[in-house]
Amino acid sequence: MRLDKFLASMGKGSRSEISKLIRSSKALVNGVLVKAPDTKINPDTDVITLNSQIVKYKKYVYIMLNKPDGVVSATNDPNEKTVVDLVDTEDKLRGLFPCGRLDKNTLGLIILTNDGDTSHRLLSPKHHVSKVYKFKVEKPLSKSDVLSLEGGVDIGGYFTKPCQVKLYDDLTSGEITLTEGKYHQIKLMAEAVNNKITYLERVSFGPIVLDTSLKRGEWRYLSDTEEKLFLEGDKI
Ligand code: URA
Repeated sequence: MRLDKFLASMGKGSRSEISKLIRSSKALVNGVLVKAPDTKINPDTDVITLNSQIVKYKKYVYIMLNKPDGVVSATNDPNEKTVVDLVDTEDKLRGLFPCGRLDKNTLGLIILTNDGDTSHRLLSPKHHVSKVYKFKVEKPLSKSDVLSLEGGVDIGGYFTKPCQVKLYDDLTSGEITLTEGKYHQIKLMAEAVNNKITYLERVSFGPIVLDTSLKRGEWRYLSDTEEKLFLEGDKI
């Protein structure tokens, strides 16, 4: 594996930031100074130092993707482009999958990881991890629509759990915070109050907030701080 890719996948910065650090003599491989970002290393056996600190190889990868329209939340699909297809990193070979699903036309934050246990835990309804979505609807929402949505509505035999709705002044857009994730939940909730979602974007998942500097389709590794928050996402 390349040294710059290794450091990027350990959350030490973007590839260009890391290249700069390596070129300015901040990286050692087994105690030897290297200045080429493409230096080949073996993450299992080589000792890598950056800014005088040893960078430990981590088994798990955590990636934030700003999902664009028209991409499915799956690992692979014979006919459709998937969120994993958008991530051009060797980490794909380490078994990346999306932590939860967004509909094909839903935009925004999706976390990709190979950490099955954490993903499973954070997605379990037991743990009530909050997810915030920005939405637009076809027709203005009334106060009573908002109260119904917040209290719980019937989406085909299932009553949604209490949630929060923040309605913007135009009455046709806002933010909804859910602690569960049934299939097409927000779209079905809008239908339950005789309305229709025309735009849906997830802006946070537990403590992780979408980095707005990422354009649609772009991704980056979670920083060390974000990674810690993500791992404790069910305790916040
Ligand atoms: N609710 C939906 O209806 N769709 C999503 O993608 C996410 C939540």
